[in-house]
Amino acid sequence: MYKLGLIGKSVEHSKSPAIHHKLLAENGLAGEYHLFSIDESIISETLEHLITKGYKGFNVTVPYKETIIPFLDALETSAEVMQSVNTVKIVNGRLIGYNTDGLGYIESLKQDYPDWFKNRQEKTVLVLGAGGAAKGITHQLVTHQLGRILIANRTQSKASELASIFPEIETIKWSQVASVLSQVDLVINTTIVGMAPNDHQSIIALKGLESNPIISDIVYQPTWTKLLIEAHEEGCPLLFGESMLYYQAVKAFEIWTMNE
Ligand code: ATR
Repeated sequence: MYKLGLIGKSVEHSKSPAIHHKLLAENGLAGEYHLFSIDESIISETLEHLITKGYKGFNVTVPYKETIIPFLDALETSAEVMQSVNTVKIVNGRLIGYNTDGLGYIESLKQDYPDWFKNRQEKTVLVLGAGGAAKGITHQLVTHQLGRILIANRTQSKASELASIFPEIETIKWSQVASVLSQVDLVINTTIVGMAPNDHQSIIALKGLESNPIISDIVYQPTWTKLLIEAHEEGCPLLFGESMLYYQAVKAFEIWTMNE
């Protein structure tokens, strides 16, 4: 019996239960996925409750992806590098932290554009943003040996900080983004620009773009962000935030159910 769940501040409207109930059914496993909207002050007792009740694992979302780390017994590499946890596996009462966000993004890219990924060493990728999400995705881009990885952030110093963790990454100025667009094969918006309720905004203007890079957005509410609508109008291939959401869940599910 797989008892699973999600911890966050306000997770009532999460899509995770639907995804995990589907994955449980597809794999012929009995289980439940429960939501825990909690205050930071009760993280410790919530974790005790999950261990006592026999949970196999749980997801962690905003704003606790970093806060939870001191309560865990061990971190797997991606969570250690990112200092951010979105998945916890409970093994004999021990809490092990993972981060599947970056891997989920790569998997969505592989699933939607398998041929593109085969020639990945010839590709140039432009990452927009340098927050937690960007860190997870760039870590996996580097691990998967994409050809050239460029990063641009409104606050340049944060992009430089990220590039200092991963020497394979080149930073470019925010003001240079428009001019490099024609040279890139994939654009990844990792910022919150375009997310409801600020969904009238687009992180970059694509009108008149002469090339056809894949445009991807990790924002999934709304499904069609302003960026993706404009990219579609320009004839660019698209990768939706919902796809990353789904595959980060698949990767979490694999962690909970492997070696069982
Ligand atoms: P997350 O952990 O979800 O990535 P975050 O760490 O708060 O969130 O990072 C948010 C990202 O969105 C940052 O790269 C931020 O840029 P700054 O570092 O300059 O703040 C970016 N961002 C937020 N609002 C933005 C805006 N209006 N224009 C451009 N970038 C924006």
